[in-house]
Amino acid sequence: GNFDFGMIGIGVMGSNLLLNMADHGYAVIGFDLKQERADKLVEAAKPGTTVKGTIDIKEMVSALKKPRKIMMLVPAGKPVDDVIENLLPYLEKGDIVIDGGNSYFKDTLKRISYLQPKEIHFFGMGVSGGEAGARYGPSMMPGGDQEAYQYLKPILEAIAAKSGNVPCVAYMGNNAAGHYVKMVHNGIEYAMMQMISEVYDLLHRAGNMDNKDLHQLFLKWNEGELHSFLVEITAEIFKTGDAETDNPNDLLVDMILDQAGSKGTGKWTSQEAMDLPVSIPTIDMAVAMRDLSVYKDQRTKAAQIFKPQIGTIALNESFLTELEEALAFCFTIAYAQGLSMLAKASVQWEMNIPLPSVIQVWKAGCIIRSALLGNFTDAYQKEPALPNLLLDADIAILLKNRESSIRSIIAAAVQAKIPVAGMSSALAYYDAYLSDRLPVNLIQAQRDFFGAHTYKRIDKEGVFHTEWQQEE
Ligand code: 6PG
Repeated sequence: GNFDFGMIGIGVMGSNLLLNMADHGYAVIGFDLKQERADKLVEAAKPGTTVKGTIDIKEMVSALKKPRKIMMLVPAGKPVDDVIENLLPYLEKGDIVIDGGNSYFKDTLKRISYLQPKEIHFFGMGVSGGEAGARYGPSMMPGGDQEAYQYLKPILEAIAAKSGNVPCVAYMGNNAAGHYVKMVHNGIEYAMMQMISEVYDLLHRAGNMDNKDLHQLFLKWNEGELHSFLVEITAEIFKTGDAETDNPNDLLVDMILDQAGSKGTGKWTSQEAMDLPVSIPTIDMAVAMRDLSVYKDQRTKAAQIFKPQIGTIALNESFLTELEEALAFCFTIAYAQGLSMLAKASVQWEMNIPLPSVIQVWKAGCIIRSALLGNFTDAYQKEPALPNLLLDADIAILLKNRESSIRSIIAAAVQAKIPVAGMSSALAYYDAYLSDRLPVNLIQAQRDFFGAHTYKRIDKEGVFHTEWQQEE
């Protein structure tokens, strides 16, 4: 065959990735069960590019140059296994299959082991950036066999988002490293979104800021240290009208039901963190708050019982500056938690994740891209296996300079009865991580008291147990 790349599943994401490749001179072919999708792909191709669509999987496979490079973009779970089974009869040794969906990394591990004896290279690859990213420059997180990656590298680098001149795709490590890094990316995504929503709540309910001013504020923030994709789209949201109503002053955001959806990647991040174990409370809290939001009926009843009086916050210039700094502080903590998880998991799961490359790949194209990541490059270049960003002297200065801001914001929010669970957890994590003595000496005493679980001492080696006296 003469084609460079094949795609299984040509919905919007799959088609856009192929069209992106075609724009860069690659001959591409897409397969789907639906003829209309195959037709639509071909119609969308620019003149002079080589784009083909088919509903015959065998035709797609035989059209490809060897070793074949085939990506699947199908829903996570069973569909991925089904596609693998359908493909297998036509594949040959050395072929490369990429799962570009949000698959659970343990499923990816199983698939790698299943395909290894057949000498098929299986890559789990996180793809971030949504539909526009796929078309004009996604961030991509591939992991798997390093030698086979050399075949994918040129084509992925051509289509990736660029930060400076550097492509936002890199080899993320062995085994399921690609899907692992994407999972943690999504955990951080949950945390950042949660904390932006808390800031919105403070400004809107306690500060009485209207959507017009929210739009202006987020626009302004996006020009400063909070410059990021999520702050940028949030600014856009605060000016988007509601097509369902006739009033041009109605904004869509006010009409959206306050129940968060989720597809599981944030939850996986928390579950995996607890298994490692590693502490990522801000991501945990983001998952918990989405879950709490789902119980709208209960919240409505509770509001009727308690009738909470929301306090008022005066939105002067200094409060808004503190809020901006507080959010930068909290974003940094969310990244720190996610990256500390990757540092630990990399060893635990023998993935050998290059953290400097993770930072590079997240700098553009993906949902969690932000100017703050620029501050982390040096830290990981100095120490690629840095266990926690907070241990870097420059990051420490950055956080310390914003510490008084986050404290006064949390204090104001608590007084006003605005829940800032994500931001509070970020500050508490910071305070705990900086404590050379935590109160768990007491927990150890209690465990030994009621269960003879033993404890260690600060003054000598060994394991101790005491016959604690309980008053009769
Ligand atoms: C991305 C996003 C993308 C998707 C999330 C949404 O990086 O482009 O993370 O993968 O939008 O999976 O996740 P929830 O539906 O769980 O919010």
